[in-house]
This record gives sequence, C-alpha cells and structure tokens, in this order.
Amino acid sequence: MSEQKLVLSDPATGKQCELPVRKGTHGPAVADIGSLYREHAMFTYDPGFVSTASCRSDITYIDGNQGILLYRGYPIEQLAEKSNFIEVAYLLLYGELPTQTQLDTFNHSIRYHTMIHESLRDFFRGFHYDAHPMAMLTGVVGSLSAFYNAAQDTRNKDDQEIFAHRMIAKIPTIAACAYKHSIGQPFVYPRNDLDYASNLLHMLFAVPAETYEVDPVAAQALDMLFILHADHEQNASTSTVRLAGSSGTNPYAAISAGVACLWGPAHGGANEAVLNMLEQIGDVKQIPQYIAKAKDKNDAFRLMGFGHRVYKNYDPRATVIRGMCHKILQRLGKENDPLFELALELEQIALNDEYFKEKKLYPNVDFYSGIIYKALGLPTNMFTVMFAIARTVGWVAHWIEMTNDPEQRIGRPRQIYTGAAQRDYLDPAQRD
Ligand code: CMC
Repeated sequence: MSEQKLVLSDPATGKQCELPVRKGTHGPAVADIGSLYREHAMFTYDPGFVSTASCRSDITYIDGNQGILLYRGYPIEQLAEKSNFIEVAYLLLYGELPTQTQLDTFNHSIRYHTMIHESLRDFFRGFHYDAHPMAMLTGVVGSLSAFYNAAQDTRNKDDQEIFAHRMIAKIPTIAACAYKHSIGQPFVYPRNDLDYASNLLHMLFAVPAETYEVDPVAAQALDMLFILHADHEQNASTSTVRLAGSSGTNPYAAISAGVACLWGPAHGGANEAVLNMLEQIGDVKQIPQYIAKAKDKNDAFRLMGFGHRVYKNYDPRATVIRGMCHKILQRLGKENDPLFELALELEQIALNDEYFKEKKLYPNVDFYSGIIYKALGLPTNMFTVMFAIARTVGWVAHWIEMTNDPEQRIGRPRQIYTGAAQRDYLDPAQRD
C-alpha cells in the first residue's frame, strides 16, 4: 500500500473522504474504495466495470493503449513464437515456465486425464442434432460437477490441482463429442500418444472406418491459436467464473458459467459472427455499404472482430494471427481464400475511416481466427468452442488464484435503486 491517497469531498456535507491508492507492477493506480460505504455511506457507479478493478491478480497484464499482452510477465509474441500450449498452460497455472521434468510430468498428467465417463458421453444423446455446440458444451461441462462432487474442499491444493488437470484435459474431448454429435458421427476416443492439439484434431476428424493422419501444420496452427486465447485477465467470462466461484460452488459448475458467458457475440461468439459477417458481405464492392451500416447509430449492425474494451490500439493477438493467416493458408493450399482477401480489404477500409480512427476501433483477436479455423475444416458454429478450449486454462488459473486469495469474499455488487419509492399494499378493489 502506498502513501498516495485520493481525496473526495461531498459538497452537501463538506465531509472529506481519503481513499488509499494501490499500485500494481504495471498499470494505472487504483483507488481502494473498500471503506467508502462503511465510512461514508456511498457506493460507486460503474456500469460494465469500465473503471473497476475487481481483484488483485498475478496472471495476465494488458496495456490497451500500447497493445501489450503479458502472461506472467512474458510478452504474448514471444510465447506464440517460441512456446507451446501445454507449456503456456503450465505457466499460467503455476506462475513460472516449467523445467523439462516439470513439463514432462504436467504433460503426462494432462494426456492421462483426457477420457470422460461413459455416462457423460450418453448425455449428448439428449441433445437434438442441431443443438449449438456451445449449448452442449455449457451443459456437459456443468455436468462434470455431478461426477466430481461438491464434497471436495475447494481450498485443498491437491483437489485444486486435480480439478485443473481434469478440466484442461477433458474439455477437448467434450468439445469433440459436441461436434461429432452435431454431424451424426460416432465419438472418437482420445489418443494419449498425441499432443494436445493433434489429439483434438484426431477426435474431431477421425472416423472408425478410416485411418486418420493428423496434419502437423494444422496442429501447429491450432496450438498457436490456443496460446493466444489462453487468458485475457478479467474479461467477461473469466469474471463470470470468479463471481460464480466466489460463492464456493463446485468449480466445474463455475467453469460452465464461463462457457455460457463466452458464447455471446460481444465476447467469444465474435469469431463465429465475423465469418457470418464476411459471408454476408460477400464481395469487396459491398464493403462501403457495411461500413456505413456499422457507423449508423440507428442500425444494430457492428463490424464484428473490431473494437475492444481494453485495446485502443491493435490487439497484439490480432497482429500475430494476421501474420500467421498468410502462412497457414499457404501451407494448407488455401492462399486464395476469398474470405481472407475480403477480410484484408475490410480491415484496410475500416482502419482508414474517420469513425473507426476517432473511436480507436482496431481489429481484435477474433477478426482473423475464424479464417484459420475455417481453413482447418471446422464449421462456423465450432469456432467459439475452440476459443472455450483454450480459455479454460485461464478460467482455471483465475479460479485457483481467487480461491486462494485471503482478500476474496463472495462477489456481491450493489446498485442505484431507481424503482418505486416505498408504498403500501392496496386490495384490488382500492386500485384504480
Ligand atoms: N463497430 C461499430 N462501432 C463500434 C464497434 C464496432 N465493432 N465497437 C465499438 N463501436 C462504437 C460504439 O458504438 C461506441 O460508439 P459511441 O461512443 O458513439 O456510442 C464506441 O465505439 C465505444 O464502444 P462500446 O460498445 O462503448 O465499447 P465497449 O468497450 O463497451 O465494447 C466491444 C467493446 C468488443 C463489445 C465492442 O467493440 C464490440 O461490440 N465489438 C464487436 C464484437 C467483437 O468483435 N467482440 C470481440 C471482442 S475480442 C474477443 C474477446 O476478448 O472476447
């Protein structure tokens, strides 16, 4: 705690209130308003938590003005270039890059928790064939809580670790079952000899009638996308996991709440929405018409994949994906993908448009990720599921951090009440 204080004065009473100011490793100073209600009977009002730090965290740092993203202090660009998803998962969970032995042990544990209970597989039969895979994911992830019971002690370090490993290992299996169910193909069991991304591709695309060779280029692309999506500090779904978890609920149920939140088009659902939008635009000639729609306040249309609550500069993840998109499409023999060309053109036109410049709206992580997922052969409705697989690591890391934080209390926001003033009940005959 620093000596700096924020002093507020109430003109009505003339009373002054001194708020201590906290400082993190990086980022703006934070006024600690914890005593405001207790000592001054006042709340703060901040819809969407634009100026509110809801917790302390050691996991991820974002500088939205500079376009910087750090996992445990390491720049995302370095991790995307030099690391792999399992190593990044270890880093996010445990705080440090692993030694070779630590990495081997972690990798082994994740590979050997990939199977799901046979009864859980049966749950999928209850879903109609056209259920959205995110709907299935929300339900089935929540159902893990029925298999790994609430009797566990959420503060027990061993229980936390086994929860983390199980969740990270099983989410690709559940995701692949959701996909197979939606296309009417048999579920494919995981293969523990394969790395994380290759195993997922195997479960998604193999069929019992044929041998399936995982394309290493596809696996590498997926692994890198997972690194970029693994965590993003207190985003809506992570905050949802923290809020749900703050009541002490079963941690698998808390993760399911995060999946539900991620689904929305303003959050992880944007990658699906971008592809739908590009298909709707269809041709570069139509771009000006859609840019005009995006700027029209009477039109609900927004340029999907553009803008971010925190980034007021290029999203560093988008920079990495954009560069990678060329390479991957070329290596997969899909370099002339018309949607990619359309996306590049749309990006250029928007970046040079006064409205987008003035509001600092830049492409975000979802602008290009869908193009890669499409090139890998995934249907549009699976894009957000892929995001959920990667973000599971972040959700789990935040749930553990929150559970072990001695300052943690149940999340319970307050409100400005704007409803009717207190009044007395009248019998029906007395009401006009
Ligand atoms: N197209 C057109 N106008 C936009 C857009 C957009 N994509 N994004 C923001 N604006 C305008 C918005 O209308 C507002 O204008 P005004 O000040 O005149 O009212 C201004 O820019 C600020 O926007 P906001 O909605 O107040 O900003 P926010 O921080 O509440 O919302 C956002 C951030 C990501 C929800 C929003 O930019 C958006 O809806 N983008 C499209 C959806 C999208 O790509 N989401 C993925 C986010 S990145 C992946 C993830 O982390 O989940």
